[in-house]
Amino acid sequence: MKFIDLFAGLGGFHLALESLGHKCVFASEIDDELRGLYVKNFPDSKDYVVGNIKDNHRLVPSHDILCAGFPCQPFSKSGFQGGHLDTRGTLFHEIVVILQKHKPTYVLLENVGNFEQHDGGRTWAVARRKLQRLGYTVVATEHVKSGGRGLISPHHLGFPHSRERFYAVCRRGPLSADVLPSPDRQRVTDLNPYLQANAGLAPSDLLETKLSQQQVACINHWNDLLRALPPGAEFPSFPLWSDEFEATYAYVKTTPYRARKDKLLRWTRGLGGKREMTRQEMINLLPSYAREEESRFPLWKVRFIMQNRAWYRDYRASIPPRWLTTTRSFPSSLRKIEWNCKGEKRDLWEHVLQFRPSGLRTKRMYSIPALVALTTTQIPIRDFDYKAFQTLTDFQLIARLRFMPLATQSMSMLPEQLHPDCLATKCQPRSRQTWK
Ligand SMILES: C[S@@+](CC[C@H](N)C(=O)[O-])C[C@H]1O[C@@H](n2cnc3c(N)ncnc32)[C@H](O)[C@@H]1O
Repeated sequence: MKFIDLFAGLGGFHLALESLGHKCVFASEIDDELRGLYVKNFPDSKDYVVGNIKDNHRLVPSHDILCAGFPCQPFSKSGFQGGHLDTRGTLFHEIVVILQKHKPTYVLLENVGNFEQHDGGRTWAVARRKLQRLGYTVVATEHVKSGGRGLISPHHLGFPHSRERFYAVCRRGPLSADVLPSPDRQRVTDLNPYLQANAGLAPSDLLETKLSQQQVACINHWNDLLRALPPGAEFPSFPLWSDEFEATYAYVKTTPYRARKDKLLRWTRGLGGKREMTRQEMINLLPSYAREEESRFPLWKVRFIMQNRAWYRDYRASIPPRWLTTTRSFPSSLRKIEWNCKGEKRDLWEHVLQFRPSGLRTKRMYSIPALVALTTTQIPIRDFDYKAFQTLTDFQLIARLRFMPLATQSMSMLPEQLHPDCLATKCQPRSRQTWK
């Protein structure tokens, strides 16, 4: 069948449908760099890929399947009034216009996980009714609380990436309610078989993925603490904030911002606080999250601080005093850790690590974690070859996985639906050249 790839990105839909024997006849991607990569991935597309879909409707040829990972925008508040469904002014409306003209048999849509809840559920409700009025039967991954069967993540289907997404499959005419794959939500996937060893990487890849000395030191430092704990003990499930270990400032009913100078001096003495300092200078010695100009901390922060101080009291005797001194030499985000490896080996290098603004996150080798914001500070790492350290961006890590045959260029270009059912089993990797 012939398909079109709207809002094409890097071509996740293209990859899937091509691998199933379908032929792409049109694609639109507004971002110049992404469009260039699309052509690199699918050389034939140079003859049909266009930019802004709003300016290129007339070029859309007849097709059987319309694919769109469209940007999500709320519809007009008058969306439901008088039975008039107003999708105008949104990018979804571009899809509607094409459907009205070409009447393809199938429509495949993809969006962020909470799309169906967007604008109180109105956005998807308007879009779904519009599709139904155009003659389509719609089956989508709706939330359980909306009466649906829940979202689907690649790891539910056996692909090692956790990223819940919204999908809709539509057919002009009848469509089985079982058209979406059945997710196995208890499924545990394994990243190990998909990783490439250092020996298989080009020198430029190795250079690009090398950890900084500070990152290595930080990982080793937290490892020292983990190993110093008594047998059977490990890091807690809440984020560990080492700044709280010796902290004494008040946080339950008040905050340092409200405190008098003499109290601030007492709380900051161990951190270099001196009588001749101003209030602000003393406040600046406290952890960044404790400096906020507010009279009360939010409850979640109070809870974390309380849990951290209690945890420290329990394990203080096991923690070498020099460990705390060294910790203070790290920047704030490296002084926190999230341990999501309960019961696993007490060695950070054995797990997937990400440097995040909220701390060093440790996850099991089950799947690539979903990144809410794709930034280069959030870096999954795996010490694949033991001691040949690598820093992998989410995107680089995926690029290393054997099922990633697309050309990509930066993290922001991570395609949204690379994994569902189309990869690993149905796509054979292309030559390594196209991975770069
Ligand atoms: C969520 S991403 C889709 C990802 C894609 N399905 C993939 O596999 O990589 C949405 C894409 O729509 C593109 N876009 C946004 N507005 C557009 C427009 N008016 N015309 C064409 N593309 C547009 C964005 O640049 C972005 O790459």
